[in-house]
Amino acid sequence: TWTTHNVVEEQIAAVREQVGDKRVICGLSGGVDSAVAAALVQKAVGSQLTCVFVDHGLLRKGEAEQVEKDFVAATGVELKVVDAQERFLDALAGKTDPEEKRKIIGREFIRVFEQAASEIVAEAGAHGEAVEFLVQGTLYPDVVESGGGTGTANIKSHHNVGGLPEDLQFRLVEPLRKLFKDEVRKVGEELGLPSEIVWRQPFPGPGLGIRIIGEVTRDRLDLLREADAIAREELTAAGLDREIWQCPVVLLADVRSVGVQGDGRTYGHPVVLRPVSSEDAMTADWSRLPYDVLGKISTRITNEVREINRVVLDVTSKPPGTIEWE
Ligand code: XMP
Repeated sequence: TWTTHNVVEEQIAAVREQVGDKRVICGLSGGVDSAVAAALVQKAVGSQLTCVFVDHGLLRKGEAEQVEKDFVAATGVELKVVDAQERFLDALAGKTDPEEKRKIIGREFIRVFEQAASEIVAEAGAHGEAVEFLVQGTLYPDVVESGGGTGTANIKSHHNVGGLPEDLQFRLVEPLRKLFKDEVRKVGEELGLPSEIVWRQPFPGPGLGIRIIGEVTRDRLDLLREADAIAREELTAAGLDREIWQCPVVLLADVRSVGVQGDGRTYGHPVVLRPVSSEDAMTADWSRLPYDVLGKISTRITNEVREINRVVLDVTSKPPGTIEWE
């Protein structure tokens, strides 16, 4: 019978069997999935695991700090932090096609991991063995939506499924591959992770990179990061965190519209609020957020973020719209 306890025991056994006495690395994204996958693998093989947190510059405000503090405090896992902001920005320069952006981000992730893996081996000294396995927090919906093995529609290359390079050096460990998000949260609780991690709203691996429609630049990331932080703050203050599945904020970086802010004309960018309710992200409904919460978010973003002079609301369900815009 399906109980969270059984799933955890089964997966721990499966990971031990697959990995043996080899070394493993796991990329942490700050999201629920990679945190739960890492905690599970750590339970299974302990110090054979090193976690790698890649700061690709596409993160939200406070994300890096959260991983460094909360996750390490909860698990005691060994963590290596890599600052790869320049590298990702360079690779994304001039790119506007959504699938191309996703593939670039996925590819760079893996390259950074490979480099981190060889550094981990070097640091371990003469007895250092190569890292053979890479843990990924792939969930069942990711597998389905990337067309992974099921022959269903290929909607997007989720960076942890469809976006991997063909010459991947690692074998994959994917202990959550059969689970849905609500099940992953239960597994996280069973493993003793704190609720700030377990109940975080989903955030995609490619991060803010796929929430800037158009080219990704440092300035645009800074704008979006500010707007996103405000939206999250207000949704939390309104007590809506568990009610909505997630609320991407999307920057329409190549669109400008005329506005009036202070005592002058502006010609700024719009951001889109995309609040959705969902059970598993396979389908979603647009959330009927209270008007006063929407109003507060809009006022604050246009007051506090220079260059954003308009806030619009996405009222499309999935299908036909996906949750993320790219
Ligand atoms: P879509 O946009 O496909 O998103 O309706 C469904 C859910 O998946 C998240 N998402 C991702 N998660 N890597 C991830 O780990 C990805 O590449 C990725 N793309 C989308 C999205 O935020 C939503 O919760």
